[in-house]
Amino acid sequence: MKKILPFTRPAIDEETIQSVVEVLRSGWLATGPKVAALEAALSSYLGGRPVRTQTSATAGLELALLACGIGKDDEVITPALSFVATANVIVRVGARPVFVDVGLDSRNLDLDQVEAAITPRKKAIMPVLFAGLPVDMDRLYAIANKHGLRVIEDAAHAIGSAHRGRRIGSFGDLVCFSFHPNKNITTIEGGAISGGSPDELKTIELQRWHGQVKSGVEGFDTLIAGGKSNLSDVAAAVGLGQLRHLEEFNSRRRQLVARYFELWSDSPPVRLPERGDDGHSWHVFTPLLPLDRLRVSRPQFIEAMKEQGIGVGVHYPAIHLFTAYRALGYREGQFPNAERVGRETVTLPLFPAMEMSDVDRVVETVTRIVRGAQQ
Ligand SMILES: Cc1ncc(COP(=O)(O)O)c(C=O)c1O
Repeated sequence: MKKILPFTRPAIDEETIQSVVEVLRSGWLATGPKVAALEAALSSYLGGRPVRTQTSATAGLELALLACGIGKDDEVITPALSFVATANVIVRVGARPVFVDVGLDSRNLDLDQVEAAITPRKKAIMPVLFAGLPVDMDRLYAIANKHGLRVIEDAAHAIGSAHRGRRIGSFGDLVCFSFHPNKNITTIEGGAISGGSPDELKTIELQRWHGQVKSGVEGFDTLIAGGKSNLSDVAAAVGLGQLRHLEEFNSRRRQLVARYFELWSDSPPVRLPERGDDGHSWHVFTPLLPLDRLRVSRPQFIEAMKEQGIGVGVHYPAIHLFTAYRALGYREGQFPNAERVGRETVTLPLFPAMEMSDVDRVVETVTRIVRGAQQ
């Protein structure tokens, strides 16, 4: 029997499992001391910035937009290639996503196109740090500051990444992380915002908890019609256990990626993604298939890999081609790199518990399938 190799798998240690058991026995399951401890630990990891957790990065991004006062008739510049949540939250607050193309290898938004897209209606830029590869953050913030735009970083992939030696989340406007089980650390489902002005933090807190504040002897007042996206202590206990391993996990990811690059250093059968420096946390490893030269389709390639016991994902189809975004007027041909990545990308196995020999096996299998399917 071949060992099954998924494209990702979370690594939860026994100590973390034990800490969850303790929370379950404690009688306090929802937001409490563990959430406070996780926010403090993340804040200390991110240079002392304020950190507020949520039930997902999707919730965090939406709260960040609301905190910046973005709503009806506003426009937010964002890449056409990301997980669809990035654009969905912009639509959900009543604003319009203004897409720009991405670099073919970086998958990050093209800053030249960002500058060109700025008009008086634009209120914010929402970059995605794809696979944990930082955008040129200095140039991004220079553009934003020049035009008075707020930056809401979709850093769902980027916990533990750094730009020119500065951790992502330790600087900048509002930086949103995801702790979904696929991400570099998990709280099962969860997310966190780092940064924000005192007013923005107040809005985030109100929006994530019914708009309520403690008030006088009567108990509570409701200041706005807030929603509910507070993390539980059970989830936070998982996060605390994971955060202890973050540096080790990310360094293992970099080692595994180095092996992929080493084995494919000479005429690789796939187009490799951009490789950043040690600040690249490698959330996913996503080469492009040379489909125009192959007799097989991407689903057939994925099926052939599956037959060999290797899981392959797709991160991501281009957002503007989804029905909901075509309905906003977007169409094929507008963002050629996003469209090509959307068509050709495959996510190969990458997670901290992988062996180096697993990388060898993936490389050997991909090379054999692609070479065998060449026209
Ligand atoms: C780029 C990006 N943004 C946002 C999200 C949403 O994260 P969550 O699942 O925590 O809501 C994801 C999740 O995959 C993502 O990849």
